[in-house]
Amino acid sequence: MPNISCKHFGKCGGCALLNLPYAEQVAKKQAKLQETLKDFWQGEILVTVTDEPVNFRNKVELGFCHQVKWRDDYDKKDPANKTRPLEFESALGFKLRGRWDRAVDIEECCLFNDKLIALLDAIRAWAKAENLEYYDQRKHTGVLRHLMVREGKNTGEEIVVLFVTDDFNEKTFVQAVESVFPNANIMAAVNNGLADTAAPESLRVLKGKDFILERIFLTNEKGQKEREVVFKLSPQSFFQTNTKTAQKMYSRVRAVVKKIAPKRIYDLYGGAGSFSLSCADLCEKSICVESVAPAVYNGIENAKINGVSNVQFFCSKVEDFVKEQPIERKDALIILDPPRGGMHPKAAKAVAESGVENVLYISCNPVTLANDLKILTQHYEILHVEAFDFFPHSEHIETFVQMKLK
Ligand SMILES: C[S@@+](CC[C@H](N)C(=O)[O-])C[C@H]1O[C@@H](n2cnc3c(N)ncnc32)[C@H](O)[C@@H]1O
Repeated sequence: MPNISCKHFGKCGGCALLNLPYAEQVAKKQAKLQETLKDFWQGEILVTVTDEPVNFRNKVELGFCHQVKWRDDYDKKDPANKTRPLEFESALGFKLRGRWDRAVDIEECCLFNDKLIALLDAIRAWAKAENLEYYDQRKHTGVLRHLMVREGKNTGEEIVVLFVTDDFNEKTFVQAVESVFPNANIMAAVNNGLADTAAPESLRVLKGKDFILERIFLTNEKGQKEREVVFKLSPQSFFQTNTKTAQKMYSRVRAVVKKIAPKRIYDLYGGAGSFSLSCADLCEKSICVESVAPAVYNGIENAKINGVSNVQFFCSKVEDFVKEQPIERKDALIILDPPRGGMHPKAAKAVAESGVENVLYISCNPVTLANDLKILTQHYEILHVEAFDFFPHSEHIETFVQMKLK
């Protein structure tokens, strides 16, 4: 795969490795992963790559920023600069590398979908015509805050969510989005909090539905289709951002679960039930524990949509769940898939001391994985480690660790 060029490389926080050919990016990440996990695993960690590392993301979250114009010639020590009046600009895009308060006004991007830039242009033109201010991260002023676009890569369904602090002309916004994505579901979210997250206080539908469907196809080790799972995704629910490579990971985990043949699966940090639903036909019961309520509601609906009746959902923090609901060890399997921050030490300790024979850990952050392995390997030995490149052009990598009770 030849290098992909992007005029924003170096400034944009979206891609840190885009200057390297894809195979070199993977080799670099693999070497770093081996180094991070060297105290726990010395075998080679094979990486499953993304077949086509362009337009692979199924979701982007972009920021609107009203910001001081970046001047490459700016020199703090030059007295002339101190008296030059500040110029401001409006930007819509990913964060500038290393900055929380500035965005890159993106004019090209290889991550999401060929139509993304046309959508951003339509929204920029709409904001200008409506005289709407972009959010100023420092002063907390302005109306337009974030834009989320999500696409079912296997269903073609789209949802566009605009995060705002105040009212805006909904009709013209819908028209702007429809000019590029005629079939998109469109929502508005109000977010007046000071934190720079796309976490809304309220959400409402402007057109269509408040969710999209995504589908994953699970294959066996010969590549033959074994199972299909449909997911209903609301704007807030977690879903792996690279559907095609995630399918490979879910298929791989499924193959390992099939060999273990547990009666009961504890799917901890379960999101909208991806592992439980992928493996529901392989066990008597799955217990899915997730702390975000909308993801749990999606999970319950996902189970219904897929005709699955043996998954029980708990809306709870894993660290609370393990305190309140003792884990039944007989014929059980624990699947762990925590967020980037890793596990709460109390949760890691409870899993380590659970006595459950098999534990699978899926991690999006090798550093916190290594931290948690310090606790888990007091009672578990690692049987196998492999990785999946869900995040081409970034420094991130997904790791899968299989463990057995010592
Ligand atoms: C990496 S995602 C995995 C989701 C799911 N396993 C999947 O593959 O789609 C981590 C999930 O853990 C949830 N989460 C974060 N902290 C949690 C906690 N302390 N207890 C339970 N769930 C938590 C997040 O909301 C998120 O849905």
